Amino acid sequence: MIHPIVKYGDEVLQKQAATVTVFDSELRRLIEEMFESMYAAQGVGLAAPQIGISKRVAVIDITSGKDPKSKIVAINPEIIATEGKQTEEEGCLSLPGFRSSVKRPEKVTIRAQDAKGHEFTMRGEGLLARALCHETDHLNGRLFIAHLSALKREFILRKVRKMMKLGDW
Ligand code: NI
Repeated sequence: MIHPIVKYGDEVLQKQAATVTVFDSELRRLIEEMFESMYAAQGVGLAAPQIGISKRVAVIDITSGKDPKSKIVAINPEIIATEGKQTEEEGCLSLPGFRSSVKRPEKVTIRAQDAKGHEFTMRGEGLLARALCHETDHLNGRLFIAHLSALKREFILRKVRKMMKLGDW
């Protein structure tokens, strides 16, 4: 099932998502639906709050479905180490149409659990490091615009509010 993507303005995107404690078939179905919804929206990462479910589940595939081996499921992820810096354009399915330069670590190590609840650590660099940070942020109620200057953030949010008023959001 493909879920519609929740956009900026919905409070589910701004709150701390709940820790996952039950690793059952319902969770595995949620993960499958998240991949389906992410591919349908042409994203490289998706956090459960983006389909309205406030749970600490994130899926990532920086190849956008081209390489099945690159599918990543991170449940209850935590960033445990970072190295270096990178600044690249970043966007979010919950803020469609907006992209901005965001400074992130060049290398990131996360600790998370897989769909069966087994703990693992994983290291990513470049775009993958960026995606790991971006999705972990979502689970803490933070969008990429939180990393921008107040001026740049307001520039985006003013446009969003205008679209909301026009019913185009
Ligand atoms: Ni996002």
